[in-house]
Amino acid sequence: MLLGSPGVGKGTQAQFICDAFHIPQISTGNIFRAAIQSESTLGLLAKSYSDRGELVPDELVCSLVKNRLDDADCQSGFLLDGFPRTIPQAKALEAMGVSLDHVIVLDAPLEEIVIRLTGRRFHPASGRTYHLIHQPPKVVGKDDLTGEDLVQRSDDNEDVVRHRLDVYQRQTAPLIDFYRKQAEQGKTKIAFLSGLGKIEEIQANILNVLKG
Ligand code: AP5
Ligand code: MG
Repeated sequence: MLLGSPGVGKGTQAQFICDAFHIPQISTGNIFRAAIQSESTLGLLAKSYSDRGELVPDELVCSLVKNRLDDADCQSGFLLDGFPRTIPQAKALEAMGVSLDHVIVLDAPLEEIVIRLTGRRFHPASGRTYHLIHQPPKVVGKDDLTGEDLVQRSDDNEDVVRHRLDVYQRQTAPLIDFYRKQAEQGKTKIAFLSGLGKIEEIQANILNVLKG
């Protein structure tokens, strides 16, 4: 599981980890964005929360994840990105019988996060993520693999970003202590890594933790 504030690099590192270990990325944010794009009932509901930078209600998120984890491709492992992000969600995950091998906590300073999120662009169909300056696509505004247009997430404007960071501090950061305690009891392993620096260096640090 990757744990850390919006913009710390969870999605960016998740793509690499999933390729390296041949496991699916379970990103609740990506699931909601796909539902929003298809204008499903779930999407309309999720949009009303995510556009304001609020969390979608726990019960809805948990039943969605439970269904997803039942899929065949999750039976040999998976990576959680953006779930759980409240204590009730973490308890629901335990109740599903899931025990986490590794919790990786990424951290970066607030002002860096704001720069990252306001400069982020993404490819809706694949979730591939870029940054105007830090991780530009080969052709401006186009996805490297498909050449399709990149877009800005509707929750990546500065006001909503700052609110998401607030919500993170109040509702998600308490999970760090929750999993620290679980690690002390031998139920999981926890690692604290810097989310600052070159993407490749962070990848290498994550790999060290996962192979260690
Ligand atoms: P979600 O999609 O999970 O968003 P988030 O947690 O706010 O995290 P982000 O995706 O913004 O950041 P990230 O850490 O993945 O960073 P990234 O790698 O893209 O959730 C969105 C919404 O959905 C929520 O607000 C909520 O409404 C709802 N939701 C989702 N899950 C939920 C749940 N469990 N419960 C309730 N509601 C839920 O990187 C950011 C940028 O930085 C990119 O441009 C990237 O290129 C760049 N970058 C990455 N690494 C580096 C680096 N090392 N150096 C420089 N730039 C970098
Ligand atoms: Mg993400």
